[in-house]
Amino acid sequence: MSCLTVNNLEVTFSIQKQKARAVRGVSFELGNTRTLGIVGESGCGKSITALSIMRLIPSPPGKIEAGEVHFEQKNLLSLPERQMRSIRGKRISMIFQDPMTSLNPVFTCGNQIAEALRLHKGMSRDEAAAFGMELLSEVGITEPLRAWSSYPHQLSGGMRQRIMIAMALSCSPRLLIADEPTTALDVTVQAKLLELLKKLQDTKDMSMILITHNLGIVAGMAHDVIVMYAGEVMESAAARELFDSPLHPYTVCLLKTIPAVERREERLTVIPGSVPTLLDIPDGCPFHPRCPQAVERCKKEHPPLHNVNGSKRLVRCHLYE
Ligand SMILES: Nc1ncnc2c1ncn2[C@@H]1O[C@H](COP(=O)(O)OP(=O)(O)OP(=O)(O)O)[C@@H](O)[C@H]1O
Ligand code: SF4
Ligand SMILES: [Mg+2]
Repeated sequence: MSCLTVNNLEVTFSIQKQKARAVRGVSFELGNTRTLGIVGESGCGKSITALSIMRLIPSPPGKIEAGEVHFEQKNLLSLPERQMRSIRGKRISMIFQDPMTSLNPVFTCGNQIAEALRLHKGMSRDEAAAFGMELLSEVGITEPLRAWSSYPHQLSGGMRQRIMIAMALSCSPRLLIADEPTTALDVTVQAKLLELLKKLQDTKDMSMILITHNLGIVAGMAHDVIVMYAGEVMESAAARELFDSPLHPYTVCLLKTIPAVERREERLTVIPGSVPTLLDIPDGCPFHPRCPQAVERCKKEHPPLHNVNGSKRLVRCHLYE
């Protein structure tokens, strides 16, 4: 059974009076209670894909041009905004890299969690406080009372992210989308939070989309992975298959960068050459200017996704025709 199915998603941005394609025909399926990792260098369309599922693309300049997002027997892209609002933050929750963008600085954390619980679950003030405090313990906060009465700025980055996770879980979502949830944190805190997310995902009957530029994180967390480049899916596979035997030349390059990323904790820039900007995505295979295996044909012909070995594994590269 699948929790979410995305079909041929197309998203554009109007830039300098031109339509730039930020997401180009992306399709994937996320199984119930599974974790899908979305990886790729900066600017490849990971966040825009996630925001499209939530219908939170800034419009203008952005526009969802085509595609379907099936979730709980509905195509989210054709729902009236009012119905979409009852899904956002309730059936699908999202957490971001910087909790300060989602936490309100003028209210205590407890106040904000209680508000979410009252809104989404119709709880009374007392019920919300009791349940909220339980949630804080569940996300590993050892002094829930203190955190409850603190303002966001009084807490450390790691604590704030735990509060965000508690808020995101407050409505027991079917799907949690985590967009670089730990990138801003130091390595130990990062590891603890990832462990927490994994545990929660296991016990809560929840599916998860985990977006990151760090393949090391995906290896430890995801069941399935899609690798994106220039707005397209380049490879799609079960996590173990992808790490044991990467097929797409871009995936191979990304995997070689794991140690560098873990050492320096910065955005991926270690593959020679740079990610194309949206207004000049190369003809043919978008990766050809950087691909160690490119041949003449790659400059002209855009590769389709090839199904390899009749499995569910997909690779967008002429080498796998
Ligand atoms: N508001 C916007 N206006 C114009 N272009 C945008 C806007 N938001 C995103 N884009 C473009 O869409 C493309 C995809 O962006 P997206 O944020 O999805 O990348 P990403 O894969 O999440 O990168 P990162 O790892 O840096 O978060 C980028 O080229 C970006 O410049
Ligand atoms: S299609 Fe060509 S350029 Fe693109 S990844 Fe495959 S070999 Fe490299
Ligand atoms: Mg992003």
